[in-house]
Amino acid sequence: MNLIFRQLFDSVSCTYTYLLADAQSRNAILIDPVLEQVARDVKLVKELDLNLLFAANTHVHADHITGTGEIKKLIPDCKSVISEASGATADKHLKGMEILSVGCINLEARPTPGHTDGCMTYVCHDAKMAFTGDALLYRGCGRTDFQQGDAAKLYDSVHGQIFPLPDDYFLYPAHDYKGFTVSTVGEEKKYNARLTKSKEEFVEIMKNLNLAYPKMIDKAVPTNMVCGYVEQASTTSII
Ligand SMILES: [Fe+2]
Repeated sequence: MNLIFRQLFDSVSCTYTYLLADAQSRNAILIDPVLEQVARDVKLVKELDLNLLFAANTHVHADHITGTGEIKKLIPDCKSVISEASGATADKHLKGMEILSVGCINLEARPTPGHTDGCMTYVCHDAKMAFTGDALLYRGCGRTDFQQGDAAKLYDSVHGQIFPLPDDYFLYPAHDYKGFTVSTVGEEKKYNARLTKSKEEFVEIMKNLNLAYPKMIDKAVPTNMVCGYVEQASTTSII
């Protein structure tokens, strides 16, 4: 497999967007695009001469608005993708363990609920890469105190779907706030500050984080429930 891969960053929400493409067919997918970075992402897709087939989200984000809706306006053939379990509107819904093919790239959609009910980790076995969304962050994890957050469920997801991957698989999270870009399964199994604990300790840690209410949540969640179609979001009562 000849993979084109780019890791892109939004410095306001500290979100990573990933571009993966098959160098032969030029077919491509963007994972977790951010609204404010759509011009950058679409320009890159054009510069690399790629056919963007999918704009996928790992979950319904609460901290930023997805770029998916705007990307679809600029690239009409591009389809929005999210898990069926998210309950969000999209062109394509993925069931647990379904394979999404983009040229010769196969992404396995592993269900990793706990941060939200619809969280998916997209695994590319051929490239030994997993895109973990907010289920697993570098040395940490996404919060579990809003949307459908459930710490025990998140613990089971990481231990059942991410940690069993081979130690040398690269883990690419949806965010990092300290400048880290990538980890590995082996590294996180050894050093993750939260997920190396027992389930009971983990639940206790997550219960006592006392984090601030996310600034963007009231705007971001309803918009992301329709994959960024803002016109529809403003007229539809989702939450
Ligand atoms: Fe999130």
